[in-house]
Amino acid sequence: MTRRVVIVGSGIAGLYAALLAADAAGGSHDGDVEVVLLSKGTLEQSNTFYAQGGVSAVLAPGDAAPGDSVAAHIADTLAAGAGLNDAEAVRILCTEAVRDIAGLSRYGVRFDTRPDGGPALGLEAAHSAPRILHAGGDATGACIARGLVAAVLERAVLERSGRGRLRVETSAFVTGLLTDPLPGSAAQPGSMPARVTGVEYLAGGRSHLVRADAVLLATGGAGRLFARTSNPAVATADGVALAWRAGAAVRDLEFFQFHPTTLAVEEVPGGPPALLISEAVRGEGAVLLDAAGHRFMPDYHPDAELAPRDVVSRSIALHLAATGAAPDSPVYLDARGIEAARGAGFLARRFPTITAATRAAGHDWTAEVVPVSPAAHYWMGGVSTDLWGRTTVPGLYAAGEVARTGAQGANRLASNSLLEGLVFGRRAVEDFLRAAVHAPHWPAAAPGDVHPGSLLPAPATVPAGAHGAAADEVPFSRQALGRLMTAAAGVTRTGAGLDAAAARLARWSADVGTGSPAAGNPAGSDQAAHEDRNLLLAAGLLVAAARQRTRSVGAHYRADTHDAPAFTHSMQRISS
Ligand code: SIN
Repeated sequence: MTRRVVIVGSGIAGLYAALLAADAAGGSHDGDVEVVLLSKGTLEQSNTFYAQGGVSAVLAPGDAAPGDSVAAHIADTLAAGAGLNDAEAVRILCTEAVRDIAGLSRYGVRFDTRPDGGPALGLEAAHSAPRILHAGGDATGACIARGLVAAVLERAVLERSGRGRLRVETSAFVTGLLTDPLPGSAAQPGSMPARVTGVEYLAGGRSHLVRADAVLLATGGAGRLFARTSNPAVATADGVALAWRAGAAVRDLEFFQFHPTTLAVEEVPGGPPALLISEAVRGEGAVLLDAAGHRFMPDYHPDAELAPRDVVSRSIALHLAATGAAPDSPVYLDARGIEAARGAGFLARRFPTITAATRAAGHDWTAEVVPVSPAAHYWMGGVSTDLWGRTTVPGLYAAGEVARTGAQGANRLASNSLLEGLVFGRRAVEDFLRAAVHAPHWPAAAPGDVHPGSLLPAPATVPAGAHGAAADEVPFSRQALGRLMTAAAGVTRTGAGLDAAAARLARWSADVGTGSPAAGNPAGSDQAAHEDRNLLLAAGLLVAAARQRTRSVGAHYRADTHDAPAFTHSMQRISS
C-alpha cells in the first residue's frame, strides 16, 4: 500500500521532512510512501533563507566548546524561555540536535570550520558557551536552504521520470485542509471531530485538491502581522489559520519575539524584510548605544547586550521611553570595537552579508555606529503539537515555527529555531512512517491548549479612551493591521490597548470575512485575500491570548500590570 504525505512549506522543517520521507520510501516500514511538497512561493522563499546566526547544537566531545554540555544547552533554553517551556521538548531538542546536524551534512550542507578543520562555533546572547554552527559567515539559513533545495530538486527530477517519490509544486498556495468526520465523534470543543485527508490549493489561477494520509504543516511564521519584521512577505500566518479552521488547538500565541537589532530604515509597506543584524555580532562584542552615546544595556540587565532577546528588545523600548525619545527612534549598534580587537577586515570576513547590506544602505560599520530597531521576528506560539509533531486533529502534523512544541517557552533562545524545525520535522516524519505499521495513537488537546470556544470574546466596541480608539474608523489594510499590532501587541502591551485592538480586529474580520469553513470561502482564487483572512484570524487569536495573560512573562510584557518589572536606570535585573 502506498501512503501519501503532503508537506506544506519549504523552510527548513518542510524541506528536511520532505527529504527524509522521500528517502525512507521503500525502507523498513510497511508499504511505500509518496511525498508532495507544496510551497506558496519559490522553494527559497522562507524565513529559513534569511536566518543569519546559525543553528545551536552541542556537538560530540572534541568538537564542542570546552566545558559545554547538552545539559547546559537545556538550561540556557529553559532560562531564556522563562521556564514556560515543556521540559521534555527541550530535552529532545538539545539531545537530538547532533543527530540532525549530521542529517544536514548528509544532504550536502557544510558549516564553517576553523583553520584546524574543526567546526567554527559562535556565541550568541543567553548561551553559556559558543555552540552556534554557522555557514557562509552570516548566511547560515541561505546555505542550508540552498543545500536542501538542491537535494529536493534532484529527487523531484527523478519523480518526473517515474523513478522518485517526491513531487514538488511551487506557487501552490494552500487554501484549506480537507477533513472527513471521525466515525462517532462528538463535535465538542477540544475533541477530535475530524481527520485531515488532504489539502485544497491554488496554483496557476485554479483550485486543486490533493488527498493524503497525512498533512505536515511547515508553513513558518507570521511576522507580517507587524509593521516592522525580519520575515519575508510570505510569512502571513497561513499555517495557524489553516489548522485553526480545521479544529486544531493552538497555544502560547501571546509570545511573539522581536529581534532587537534590525537596520533602522524607512519601511516600505509590503516591502523586503528588515535587515537583521545578527545576534552573533553582539556575541562577538558589539554594544548598544542611545542617541547620546550612552551604553544603556548594563543599566537594564547584568548580561547587557547578551541578555535574552526579549529583555534586550524590551529594554530598548523602555529606554527610549525613559529618555523621552519617540517609540520608533533607533538606538545604535557599535561594532567598531570588534574590528579594532580582531583586526581590519574581520567584520567583512565573519559577517559578509551584513557588511554588504549595511554598506548598500550607506553605513560603514567598521568606522561608524549603525541605527537599529527591534522588529517582529519569531512566533514562539503556534499550532499545539505533541513531541512527534502531532496536532490535536488526526492526520495533521505541524513542525517548525508554525508549531508550538513547547521547546521555546515564552521566549526562544537564539539559534534554536532552525534546530527545532530539523528535530521536530524529522520526528513528525518518523511518526508518519511508524503509523504505517502501528495503529496511530493521536493525542487529545492538552491542558493549556486553546481551541474554538475557549477564547475570550472581543469587546463589542472599542473601549472609550482606549489606546487607538480614535482611529476606529480606519478600514482594514495590511499597513493598518501592522500599525495596530505593533502599537497594541508589540514589545510592550496594556490591557486597554489589547481590548481596543480586539474590538477593531473583530470589526475588520467581519468586513473581510475570516470565516469558518461552514461560512464558505469569500476569498475565491485571490491569494492576497486569503492571506488577509489568515493574518486577521491569527491577529485575533494572538490578541485574545494576550488579553487572557495579565501578568508579564517572557516576550509578553504588560506595562500596565503592577507586577510588571519597573524598568529604570537603577534596576539591576530584569527577569526574562
Ligand atoms: C540572528 O542571527 O540574530 C537570528 C538568529 C535567530 O533568530 O535565532
